[in-house]
Amino acid sequence: MTLAEVDASAWAELEAAVADPRSAFRYLNLCSVDAYGRPQARMVVLRRVDVARRVLEIHTDVRSPKWREISANPLVTILGFGPQPKVQLRLQGLAEPHGPASQLAAESWSLLPRSTRSTYMGGPPGDGIGDRPASEAAVTDADGRGFFGVLIFRAETLDWFQLRHADNRRAVFAYDHLGALTSSRWVNP
Ligand SMILES: Cc1cc2nc3c(=O)[nH]c(=O)nc-3n(C[C@H](O)[C@H](O)[C@H](O)COP(=O)(O)O)c2cc1C
Repeated sequence: MTLAEVDASAWAELEAAVADPRSAFRYLNLCSVDAYGRPQARMVVLRRVDVARRVLEIHTDVRSPKWREISANPLVTILGFGPQPKVQLRLQGLAEPHGPASQLAAESWSLLPRSTRSTYMGGPPGDGIGDRPASEAAVTDADGRGFFGVLIFRAETLDWFQLRHADNRRAVFAYDHLGALTSSRWVNP
């Protein structure tokens, strides 16, 4: 594989994962840094990919710690692993939060099935189960909509690593703010 083919295959895998729940890259590890400088990691669902712009879309609750962390510090890392072949994708870039009032959140919300919408209708993520008064239990679609946020991640670099029996391979790529590939090179694994 050439460097160009490695880059193309990595993004093709990510794009395919959006439509395929069985793809390993359907679930990615989103890492941000909290107010204490502590790294925070959690799995998220990959919702949309714009290959040309090197953009990934992630959905989350705006009351969650990750939303606060990313709003304060947009530097994030996204980590994925595909077992067949054993490929690690380590993407670094910037995540932009689009809150409930944004056009983007409105559009994404309109496309969500009811079952997914309902995941935004509970109490604040991380709070104790009983912390919410029972009177607030009868929530509607509209309530969930107010907590729905979209994270737009734009990759600045991709660190691609393939684990093999003896000859592991690794390549690093950089993209400009429009998503064009600006550099690519093989590096020691
Ligand atoms: C497979 C899987 C997929 C998940 N997808 C999402 C997601 O798309 N968005 C999200 O906010 N949380 C998702 N979660 C939950 C997060 O991993 C995390 O536990 C939660 O959002 C709280 O994160 P925070 O406290 O760092 O904000 C997912 C969890 C798992 C196990």
